[in-house]
Amino acid sequence: MGVEVKVEGLTKKFGSQVIWSDVSLTLPAGEISVMLGPSGTGKSVFLKTVIGLLKPNAGHVWIEGTDIANCSEKDLYEIRKLFGVLFQDGAMFGSMDLYDNVAFPLREHTKKSESEIRQVVMDKMELVGLTGSENKLPGEISGGMRKRAGLARALVLDPEILLIDEPDSGLDPVRTAYINQLFIDLNAQIDATFLIVTHDINTARTVPDNIGLLYHKHLAMFGPREMLLSSTEPVVAQFLNAQRVGPIGMSEEKDADELASESGIEMPPLPPIPAQLDPSDGRPRRGQREPGKWCRDNNVTPPRGSFDAHASFAGASV
Ligand SMILES: Nc1ncnc2c1ncn2[C@@H]1O[C@H](COP(=O)(O)OP(=O)(O)OP(=O)(O)O)[C@@H](O)[C@H]1O
Ligand SMILES: [Mg+2]
Repeated sequence: MGVEVKVEGLTKKFGSQVIWSDVSLTLPAGEISVMLGPSGTGKSVFLKTVIGLLKPNAGHVWIEGTDIANCSEKDLYEIRKLFGVLFQDGAMFGSMDLYDNVAFPLREHTKKSESEIRQVVMDKMELVGLTGSENKLPGEISGGMRKRAGLARALVLDPEILLIDEPDSGLDPVRTAYINQLFIDLNAQIDATFLIVTHDINTARTVPDNIGLLYHKHLAMFGPREMLLSSTEPVVAQFLNAQRVGPIGMSEEKDADELASESGIEMPPLPPIPAQLDPSDGRPRRGQREPGKWCRDNNVTPPRGSFDAHASFAGASV
């Protein structure tokens, strides 16, 4: 039914290079969270730490009472069974066709018969729109198809926690819209806890229940979607609205001169908060909140035009 992931005071270094420090957040059970951040801020490293592939230098990752940052290999092996992961590069076995790639976790971790395996694999291949491509090798298909095959493989063990690293990089806008709807429908269906890393601002604005932003070696903010989309905190507002004006520059941080030259400039007004994507069958998801609820509960006036089903955001990926 989806389990909570509680991250406390997590710090990761490689040698003397601090990637991020003191990151604390809770991925609520069954909800969709998105992690954003400029390239190189350690989003992929964060995913790998949450699943215990990388050990943090400090802090805890609590999942069902086990701290996977500090547990035994045996406990880690058990906890890992709760996860489905789509890595940034897809990580397919090049010499196996898509069918065998997707079937791999089932053959490795279950005692299912080949005919049961076939049922699950064909189901998941259909879910991600790859029916008919079962016998292709990863090298013979497009990057977007590889992503979708990776997603099918991440789903075969019915995960409680789904970690997805940049599902939309290399996808065209129509397929991105399709995969976003797929996440919402999947979440409604399997009720797992989702963490999606993306650079696509439209995805970040319309899909998740919660948004986080890694910036400058810290978690700048993490919370309900409406909290971040109504925030005027410069880093958050700049990133979530894909604006050039603000503290983030081409090389992540602008230098003092650049910032000083902008200091008199007003940040542009926030665009309307768009409606969140609904499941295709119209039944609300467990984590879904009523539009505007967070703003009302917290006495925040949302930008004009928010939650109008027709309000759209013209920005592209950053
Ligand atoms: N195994 C490793 N050993 C040493 N340094 C690493 C390792 N993995 C990642 N890094 C470094 O950690 C930093 C963060 O990398 P990461 O891949 O997490 O960034 P990211 O936010 O996912 O970027 P992108 O948006 O481009 O995917 C980078 O400076 C990278 O070089
Ligand atoms: Mg990455």
